[in-house]
Amino acid sequence: MVDIHCHILPNSDDGADSMDTALLMARMAADSGVTTIIATPHSNLPRAKEKNFRDAPLAMRFVELIQRVRDAGIPLEILPGAEVMCMPDTIGLLREKQLVTLARTDYLLVEFFFDERLEYMDDMLDAIAAEGIHPVVAHPERYEAIQQSPGFIAQWFAKGYIIQLNKGSILGRLGRSAQKAAAGILSRGLAHVVASDAHDTLARTPGFNGLQQYLEDNYGFDYARVLLELNPERICRNQPIIRAD
Ligand SMILES: [Fe+2]
Repeated sequence: MVDIHCHILPNSDDGADSMDTALLMARMAADSGVTTIIATPHSNLPRAKEKNFRDAPLAMRFVELIQRVRDAGIPLEILPGAEVMCMPDTIGLLREKQLVTLARTDYLLVEFFFDERLEYMDDMLDAIAAEGIHPVVAHPERYEAIQQSPGFIAQWFAKGYIIQLNKGSILGRLGRSAQKAAAGILSRGLAHVVASDAHDTLARTPGFNGLQQYLEDNYGFDYARVLLELNPERICRNQPIIRAD
């Protein structure tokens, strides 16, 4: 299985707070059957000390993490990525090639503030797609506007935007509203990918064991495989994703 959204890169954001934590996260993921993780530190957050753009110090941390995971004998591939906060300057940064796409493909993981307006999100996703980049919408089930108007997901799905749900939302660890929205999206077959969005080893953890079973039990073996394995693999290879409709 492949996890395309994970804050495992140490000392880069509010995720792994040390190399030791990152290695524990890597071990948890590998033990649960995850073979590949895309490291996606927050990028372009308004008040962040580091914006985590392409040429920032995070590239060195990334190389060090890969080496340490290898030295520890953990069977896990780690690929570069970022979770880009959509701000007014995002399109300019995209044109300047400053943003880190998922595994250096044409897929870009994007997030919004939880109280962002639906129209703004829609306009930003359209603008990213107009640049020839496939937006991967991080955890739409956590956005208030989507929780209030869940039908909007169908429009993004129809436009070919990638819908990525969080493990924690599905399993009810991120509140009832997010869980309800995630269940609605999954039951309508509108999700493309599920990822951990892990930040640590205790609360928001990597690893797919309980999640995989839950998805298989509630939405079937085939759809679980599309969400945790086939589509994330295709994103890593820059191939078109599978629509489960
Ligand atoms: Fe995240």
